[in-house]
Amino acid sequence: GKKDGGGAGPEPASNEWKVGAYLSLSGAETQFGKDTQEGTELAVEEINAKGGVKGKKVRVLFEDDKSNPQEASNKVLQLINRDKVVALLGEVASSRSKAGGIVANKNKIPMISPSSTNPDVTKVGPFVFRVCFTDDVQGQMGARFVKNKLNKSKVAVLYASDDLYSSGLANEFKNEAKKLGMTIVAEKSFLKSETNFTTYLNEIKSAEPEAIYAPVYYNAMVPIARQAKAAGIPGNMFVGGDGWHSDSLVNDAGEEMEGAYFTNHFSPDMPSPNSQAFVKRYVEKYKREPSALAAQGYDSAMLLFDAMGRAKGDTPEAIRDAIAETKSFQGATGAITIDAERNAEKPIVIVQIKGKKFTYFDTVTAK
Ligand code: PHE
Repeated sequence: GKKDGGGAGPEPASNEWKVGAYLSLSGAETQFGKDTQEGTELAVEEINAKGGVKGKKVRVLFEDDKSNPQEASNKVLQLINRDKVVALLGEVASSRSKAGGIVANKNKIPMISPSSTNPDVTKVGPFVFRVCFTDDVQGQMGARFVKNKLNKSKVAVLYASDDLYSSGLANEFKNEAKKLGMTIVAEKSFLKSETNFTTYLNEIKSAEPEAIYAPVYYNAMVPIARQAKAAGIPGNMFVGGDGWHSDSLVNDAGEEMEGAYFTNHFSPDMPSPNSQAFVKRYVEKYKREPSALAAQGYDSAMLLFDAMGRAKGDTPEAIRDAIAETKSFQGATGAITIDAERNAEKPIVIVQIKGKKFTYFDTVTAK
């Protein structure tokens, strides 16, 4: 039954590769899904312009999971059973990648998450990969940056307790901060459904931290930054993680967040020839600069196509094995090596918000 349309095209033609992508194209984190889709589409365009993979064109079927983990599971199952995809790309949010990954792994279809950083995501099983660093490393680097670069030791932490990414990253930061001899003077958590953060911010302020670590998504950071300003907390006290990276953050709270830093995958002005070549092509196609999500979406797709080309067969299992063997893949975000835990080994970029723009600050590595 193919009556519902939803991204499914005509019957599978054997002369093309079908890849499924599930993303938040509507709902709370729409910008994550849209940016990732754009990066992915650029990759498809480029690979097909070169004749595709092993002489066959690539088609990516996009499905909207509405920013919802249950929908993510449903869409993954649909892409596998109805559309017979050979591989999957998705998701951005760790909570949804974990949900979709369980289904992909059970059905033995390889999946690559572009930008889900929570450690649990790839622990689901041998078919689930990612092309980004993990939050144990990101939290560690965040704490080291606050201590060693900003020279601040008294910190507050603010996060969403019911979100896998946010609570996980807050924990990793706290662990490292304690190891570094820093003091957590306040710890406040909220539920994803909350919109008024004034009470938490006032409590944080009275604890007199030197910095506030807020590993939350952009959609929460915008009201937090605005309410912080109203409460007399300067924006440059905030330090965050990759979840901040969306145009909406600088468009809607750029002024409030002047001077703030966060750890990220990519910055459009990072000094790397590969990144700059990608930015140029992206700007040509979309008339605006790519976000980290777009770059990660592009890299997840390109790395998959590269693995499909190297695979000893056309089956999902053969593609899985080729992904697992990836070494020093030259992506738009940097060189990517897939490790034994199916995570990407790669450096972390520090970005600063300056004049309502994301500005490259530094590149750091865990070792
Ligand atoms: N790392 C976030 C997660 O795992 C997703 C994200 C990546 C958000 C990059 C924004 C930018 O949930």
